[in-house]
Amino acid sequence: MHIIKLSAIDSTNSYLKQLISNQFVENYTVVLTQNQTNGKGQMGSKWESQAGKNLTMSVLIKDSLLSIGEIFSLNCLISIAVLEVLKTKGSLDLSVKWPNDIMSGNYKIGGILIENNIKSDGEIQSVVGIGINVNQTNFTDLPKASSLKNSTGQHFELHNLVVEIVERIKFHTAKLRNGNIAEIWNLYHKHLFKLGVPMPFELPSGKRFMGIIQKVTKEGRLELLLDDDKVLTFGVKEVLMLY
Ligand code: BTN
Repeated sequence: MHIIKLSAIDSTNSYLKQLISNQFVENYTVVLTQNQTNGKGQMGSKWESQAGKNLTMSVLIKDSLLSIGEIFSLNCLISIAVLEVLKTKGSLDLSVKWPNDIMSGNYKIGGILIENNIKSDGEIQSVVGIGINVNQTNFTDLPKASSLKNSTGQHFELHNLVVEIVERIKFHTAKLRNGNIAEIWNLYHKHLFKLGVPMPFELPSGKRFMGIIQKVTKEGRLELLLDDDKVLTFGVKEVLMLY
């Protein structure tokens, strides 16, 4: 496993993206940092992580997506790989909140940001950014965030976690390459936060309504059954679950 360790960097995703634009980089190369100073989150948000306590890493994946239409399958695969590794760390109530937040009970303990690049020869390169709150215990300004340590009472070695996660990602990408997307999709839905449970949702306009998650479509849209029996699908920027 090729691991690039940096004591500090603005964002491991940005670093790896820059690297692949300048030189050949081996598949599954990992960029790790102790101190990510300007971490990027979903939809232009920031990813805050206390230095030395958490996992902030990016992995290059470039042999598993056959077409851009499969991009959401990679999101599912990464969420499942992370969840499966964390599951071995204690009796945790882990799930994936659509699209790919890693939850312990009602708290977010990890996030995933995948940035794709299609090369002129059609090859898809994905920079898979993974942030997991591991040994941080204080989340003063983030009432919905927690960590592995808060959930289990244990301290974890960051390096071991990285190796286990990348190995699990390799295991599942091999299946994706062989066309076995169904298994990933089943696992994703099996662990989907609040699947089949009536929950309040909010539209960007502020309008609130009750809905039940039916599934996530192949394109990554959330399918909700509404009170009036209508079924609607939503993209990530189009709806927010209140929990
Ligand atoms: C989210 O908003 O839930 C996604 C968070 C992704 C954070 C990780 S930390 C490592 C990698 N580098 C970044 O700048 N972001 C991702």
